[in-house]
Amino acid sequence: MKKRFATIIVVISFFRVSAEEGMLIPSLIMAFENDMKAMGMRLSADDIYSVNQSSLKDAILHFGGGCTAELVSSQGLLLTNHHCGYSQVQSHSSLENDYIKNGFWARSMSEELTNPGLTASRIVRIQDVTATMFQGTEGLSGEEYSAKVQANMETLIADARAGNHYEAEIKAFNYGNDYYMIVKETFKDVRLVGAPPSSIGKFGGDTDNWVWPRHTGDFSMFRIYVGADNKPADYNPDNKPYEPLRFFEISTKDRIPGEFTMVYGFPGTTEQHVSSDHLEYIMNTERPARIAMRDKSLAVIGTSMNSSDLLRIQYASKQARIANAWKKWIGQIGGLQSVKAIETKRSREKAYNDMAATRPEWKSKYGGVVKDLNNLVTEFKDKDFAYAMYIEYLYVGPEMYKRARELQEFLTGYESMDEATRADELEKLRKGGEGFFKDFDRETDRKIFVVLSEEYMKQQPNSRLDQFLGDRSLEEVSQEIYSTSIMGNKENFDAFLNHINDSIVQYILDNDEGYVLWKALNDDFFTNVIPEVRIFEQAKNELLSIYVEGKMEMFPDDKHWPDANSTMRITYGKLEGSAPHDGMKYTEHTTLDGILAKNNTGNPDFEITGRLRKLAEAREYGEYDQNGELWVCFTGSNHTTGGNSGSPVIDADGLLMGVNFDRSWESTMSDFMFDASRCRNITVDIRYVLWVIDKYAGAGHLVEEMTLVDESQKAYKKRKKRFAKLNTCDGDCCK
Ligand code: ARG
Ligand code: GLU
Repeated sequence: MKKRFATIIVVISFFRVSAEEGMLIPSLIMAFENDMKAMGMRLSADDIYSVNQSSLKDAILHFGGGCTAELVSSQGLLLTNHHCGYSQVQSHSSLENDYIKNGFWARSMSEELTNPGLTASRIVRIQDVTATMFQGTEGLSGEEYSAKVQANMETLIADARAGNHYEAEIKAFNYGNDYYMIVKETFKDVRLVGAPPSSIGKFGGDTDNWVWPRHTGDFSMFRIYVGADNKPADYNPDNKPYEPLRFFEISTKDRIPGEFTMVYGFPGTTEQHVSSDHLEYIMNTERPARIAMRDKSLAVIGTSMNSSDLLRIQYASKQARIANAWKKWIGQIGGLQSVKAIETKRSREKAYNDMAATRPEWKSKYGGVVKDLNNLVTEFKDKDFAYAMYIEYLYVGPEMYKRARELQEFLTGYESMDEATRADELEKLRKGGEGFFKDFDRETDRKIFVVLSEEYMKQQPNSRLDQFLGDRSLEEVSQEIYSTSIMGNKENFDAFLNHINDSIVQYILDNDEGYVLWKALNDDFFTNVIPEVRIFEQAKNELLSIYVEGKMEMFPDDKHWPDANSTMRITYGKLEGSAPHDGMKYTEHTTLDGILAKNNTGNPDFEITGRLRKLAEAREYGEYDQNGELWVCFTGSNHTTGGNSGSPVIDADGLLMGVNFDRSWESTMSDFMFDASRCRNITVDIRYVLWVIDKYAGAGHLVEEMTLVDESQKAYKKRKKRFAKLNTCDGDCCK
């Protein structure tokens, strides 16, 4: 942990009305209030984030640790993405009740389904604790210094938790230039209320994933239940719906291209400060190799999935997981190449060094950091590459390796356990094995093993794998492993479990080709690769800490924002399309008619139900239409990333316009470099969500529970004029 006191001076131009990058800390949003107002927002900073009164932040929850969700009624009704609630929907599904395929709607609260382990957290407050963390450390060093910082942290956390049911954690921002304490309230009884069929919630499948134009109804609904005191409680049938401090009112108003939009949620990771050499390594070496590995496994999985329904079901979610990042990476490289990101990085680094040279104190502090960062990458890139390849090969690769890892974890400590614990652990392993082999096809995994081993050996010549193979061919070894090993074969695994308490266990493992191979690779990974990568990460973070401090100090007029770290952030922009390719322009919205058009192409990813077709052909949009169209999705220039799934997309008055769920392919580069002219987030329009709930699913009682806000023609015209003016002027008239 590093001690640094950088004064964050946020001076931003108030004359800008174009979208800007940045994922801002809600408790500091007042610094951006004027800029947001210049873009048309009519809320105050206090409406967005406040600790003294309820504010929008209280209606936004961290859902299941990886997504965002928002409250939309006074009775704890939560809205998030279909892909965020997917595993819950799946776990309640069976052949008789196939909710994945047909959707699910609780007709009353008593039909809502419990989800053990699922949580939703509300942020109580976000507090800058940088100064307090380092209080009393002056003059200390080494262990004394660390102990004092640790003690300060513990006191801060204990104070935050005293006399309440909150949790608190302290997180580093800006690579340790700042520390914030996040105090949160975690709800533990979160029940499934409804989800559309996959043909709506996952419409477009992998074909459309990361792609605009998009027509996915990517939403699902949950409800938070609490104890009689309205506080979090474990699941109990007597729990009551949560009465939130704040919930979103919903905009059914006509949308206006160019109007203000804001996304408020929990973005996971961005890397805006990577150095030029690092970016070059990522774009030209690391990502292409990872993509090549996944090309290979996806081809095998695709062939298998097309060959039978059973295989299609067994590999559906694995395929989706592997393909999601694979497709994003391809988009990222393309985007970064077309904006010449490496050149841009180099020229920014030059500007940084030039500025550092203007003052002796800057020169000594910041003058060498860019060079050090780039040198560090040169020094460690082989190790980092080995790490990436091991992740792809051992963790994303043949599932036989996953079995081996779980077996090793199980055996560690097994000897020293008492009888009862042993029996428990053994039962867990048996259950785990059942779940694993249920979705495992031996021949598919064997083929994945062959193609990935080939690619791995190409990327990492002379590895432990080559040593293991010796003169034998991959084909030969794979046949051997998948017929004799415990790891790649259910019968062998079950037989092994029956002998788990016998003394021959170790002998069996030592002679199991699959296990021996996995162990050789895994040992190399943990002894020779991981420790080096840790050193790299730590050294990189220390340099980035200096680099970022220099940016803030030497370029105080730039907009500075800390990289995403799964904490609550705000980003704002406009409802707008883009033109990322020569000769091509994306409009900002899609409609229900577009679903029919895609369906007509015959691609199975665009299958729809007869009911949707009938309703769409009848064009009965009720009060949800706009000029005779039903908007399905729209894009905006808001800077989002993974974790922002399910985030509310909010209009100038704080009303809910839709639910964020993706980015366009051309804009996935924004994890490294945001480009306002091409980076677009994708939102499912709340009016389509309401239409599906109301007209498609017949669950109008849920719409009744929400508060819908429309406007008169006169008010619409006035609003339209206002945004038109804001978007054409570039001076004081914007305020
Ligand atoms: N690309 C989105 C995200 O990163 C959606 C993923 C779910 N959809 C899919 N077809 N796999 O999470
Ligand atoms: N689908 C992503 C998620 O699950 C959001 C898309 C993105 O990366 O922007 O968070």
